[in-house]
Amino acid sequence: MKKLVIINGPNLNLLGTREPQVYGNMSFERYLEILRKEYPMVKIDYLQTNMEGEIVNALQEYGFQDTGIVLNAAAYSHTSIAILDAIRAIQAPVVEVHISNIYSRDEFRHHSVLSAACVGVIIGFGLLSYRLAIEALLDEYDTTNR
Ligand code: DQA
Repeated sequence: MKKLVIINGPNLNLLGTREPQVYGNMSFERYLEILRKEYPMVKIDYLQTNMEGEIVNALQEYGFQDTGIVLNAAAYSHTSIAILDAIRAIQAPVVEVHISNIYSRDEFRHHSVLSAACVGVIIGFGLLSYRLAIEALLDEYDTTNR
């Protein structure tokens, strides 16, 4: 797999300024530059949206290509059956990511309705969570078995 897409959900466009004590000081655009330099052989598409249906559309668009999907659906992770159904409907592997440790936060964040449909979940390592998700998706052995 040489193509990936990172899909970020609501309020993640504000990374860098949003609750920096929880999400850090770096914008996602800056982190994406770093990621693209670290993985020059991989095409990394990126999209951020605050709209639930646009996440569903993106999953459907990328989900039938030879593409690994890194998904941080943000608050929709805790609520969205539409996104869960989309992950179940597609063929591409989806790794769920959270920047913060959702288990050390409000109780309503402790459950993600998406996790069961994802190939794996990476939680709580800050922006490094995305890199760890990429590593998992690029791993030949694991992707063969998904
Ligand atoms: C988040 C955790 C969610 O609970 C929250 O709603 C977010 C970001 C994370 O990356 O830590 O917006 O997905």
